[in-house]
Amino acid sequence: MTYSGVLMTTFQQHLMSRRTVYKFTEDEVPGDIITQALEAAATAPCHKHTHPWKFYSIGKKTRKSLIPDVQRLAKIKSEKRGSTNLEGDLQRAVEKIINVPVLFAITTKRNPEDLFREKEDYAATVCALHNMVLSFWANGVGSMWSTGSITREVETYQNLGIDMQKEEIIGFLKAGYPIVTPSVKKPSYDQLTTFLE
Ligand SMILES: Cc1cc2nc3c(=O)[nH]c(=O)nc-3n(C[C@H](O)[C@H](O)[C@H](O)COP(=O)(O)O)c2cc1C
Repeated sequence: MTYSGVLMTTFQQHLMSRRTVYKFTEDEVPGDIITQALEAAATAPCHKHTHPWKFYSIGKKTRKSLIPDVQRLAKIKSEKRGSTNLEGDLQRAVEKIINVPVLFAITTKRNPEDLFREKEDYAATVCALHNMVLSFWANGVGSMWSTGSITREVETYQNLGIDMQKEEIIGFLKAGYPIVTPSVKKPSYDQLTTFLE
């Protein structure tokens, strides 16, 4: 593959081909691939070496504890949309949490006393999360960062044992082998870049 006349490295190909994946096969992701992704996350850049992120691997038992809240939130969404298939909507919402092969919650350290540090820490946490995404991708595993309402509920913090005063969930990451890899139109880099003399 070439881009701008320069041969792309494999790494560049991974960066550019990565897409958010929404539908996964039921195949398990091998533990070694998950460990590699966590190792990639742990090496993310981090100003002041605060390492403000935490990854929570959400297993089957903990996922089940989320079901009542997933259903409650799905009901609100379904009614708002005027859906005629509430049962189906609830089932789909639960399946998205229960059936996904890999599920993580990622948190960043709160720091209300130092909002600049909190902002830098959030940036570092995003780098860690994206390192995980790219490591998965290079191993053929797709993922989806989700900031759906379940990630922001008090009950979710309680069910995952996360201290809401100290950490903020910046999202869930769902991962597995892609059924479909969507194509997305992206702007060209020159629309997003200003070259100053
Ligand atoms: C911070 C963040 C939050 C996201 N939250 C959601 C979400 O809640 N639901 C969803 O369907 N996709 C979510 N996404 C995925 C984006 O919709 C996706 O990145 C976007 O459509 C561009 O596609 P691409 O990732 O394939 O380039 C999120 C992405 C980011 C960066």
